[in-house]
Amino acid sequence: MAKNKTVFFCKECGFESAKWLGQCPGCRQWDSFVEEPVVKKSAISARRLNITNEPKPLSGIKAEEEERFPCGIEELDRVLGGGIVPSSLVLVGGDPGIGKSTLLLQLCREIVNKQKKVLYISGEESLNQIKMRAERLGVFHGELLLLCETNLDLIEETIRKQKPDIVVIDSIQTMFKEEISSAPGSVGQVREATGTLMRIAKGFGVTIFIIGHVTKEGVVAGPRVLEHMVDTVLYFEGDNHASYRVLRAVKNRFGSTNEIGVFEMRGNGLVEVKNPSEFMLKGRPEGEAGSVVAASIEGTRPLLVEVQALVCRTNFNMPRRTAAGTDYNRVNLLMAVLEKRLGFQMADCDAYVNVAGGMRITEPALDLAIVTAILSSYKNIPLDDKTVLFGEVGLTGEIRAVNMAEQRVMEASKLGFEVCILPQANKEHIKSHAKGMKLIGVRNIQEVMGVLGR
Ligand code: TYD
Ligand code: MG
Repeated sequence: MAKNKTVFFCKECGFESAKWLGQCPGCRQWDSFVEEPVVKKSAISARRLNITNEPKPLSGIKAEEEERFPCGIEELDRVLGGGIVPSSLVLVGGDPGIGKSTLLLQLCREIVNKQKKVLYISGEESLNQIKMRAERLGVFHGELLLLCETNLDLIEETIRKQKPDIVVIDSIQTMFKEEISSAPGSVGQVREATGTLMRIAKGFGVTIFIIGHVTKEGVVAGPRVLEHMVDTVLYFEGDNHASYRVLRAVKNRFGSTNEIGVFEMRGNGLVEVKNPSEFMLKGRPEGEAGSVVAASIEGTRPLLVEVQALVCRTNFNMPRRTAAGTDYNRVNLLMAVLEKRLGFQMADCDAYVNVAGGMRITEPALDLAIVTAILSSYKNIPLDDKTVLFGEVGLTGEIRAVNMAEQRVMEASKLGFEVCILPQANKEHIKSHAKGMKLIGVRNIQEVMGVLGR
């Protein structure tokens, strides 16, 4: 009898190998290979849909703008690039418990209220549990169809019969195809299930939202394996200790990536945060050394955040440095620049840098705020409360221009800030700035020091 063959897959990127490898050649992840039985290819390709698929000349194809319809949740529409594109496949990933099911149930509510047909398929919760959650979220005006099912062949049948406009699959890790012998959640099953859903989406013209749990370790395949198979990948993230959640597009075939939507988790579901800057700056200490406000950009959206630094003498041979919410290496680099260019003895100082509110920001425009927060804490000079900063700091201590300066200034002005410290190169190009906003252009960190010591 023929031996059952197995192959090895990388849990992170889906790389396939005949033997087990310690490090994945595809994504360089260590210890990510799992063994899976080989699937007979004929079993998969046998059930083809009857779509005629002939090559067409490029000139014969009329370019049509993808028609899309807004779902009604503004923050979500923005992240999707302006609304839901028919027959697209959208993956919503995130840690367990972050609120993915809640978000998509709210999406369902908005869509059924627009008299569209929505099918919510859950492999994780019972009908009763979903009903209870729906009751917390408020009134559903239209009729939402619920199905508790994990077998994809049956799901395909249901979609064929019901012809919904939108389908939600609550979690890809619970779905399985019978032809494949490995357990639901394994790399093989997740890949096959996504392939099937892709076929359904394109074949029946339905938009499918797939929920996927991101797991760093463990047996369940991370949705990263399927990122390249779907049209749009959204990540829902947030701090476990904070109530706000950020929805981020990391891949979008129909719009720009790096757009964010901000939500707050309340007792009755997720509430859109229309003005995240205000939300982020809530409870900021005023007149304290080491706390500054940075004007940052997330996607196309300005976002003001508080950057805090605490610099103090170290008690150890090796100074401690931490960076929460920003890049650790960047903080080290900026401290080295301060040491070299301003002659400060930072080698014997502990430094803790924190982007308050649990946001994670890695854009270089945050440099100037980090540097100023460190200087402010080191020198014990508080910065004026109504001052906001942005700019990139180079290795020679020069302050370099960043993009979208005007939007940053406008956002700061909207929130009542009066002074903006920015790269001189940017200042020269800002034509229409808000009244009452004083712009201070700086060329290098010596000038920043001068501004701080006024
Ligand atoms: P859930 O959507 O089940 O997360 P996921 O599907 O990503 O695993 O929601 C998780 C948490 O949200 C849960 O711990 C309870 C909380 N929650 C609220 O705070 N308010 C609400 O109205 C709802 C529905 C959930
Ligand atoms: Mg869930």
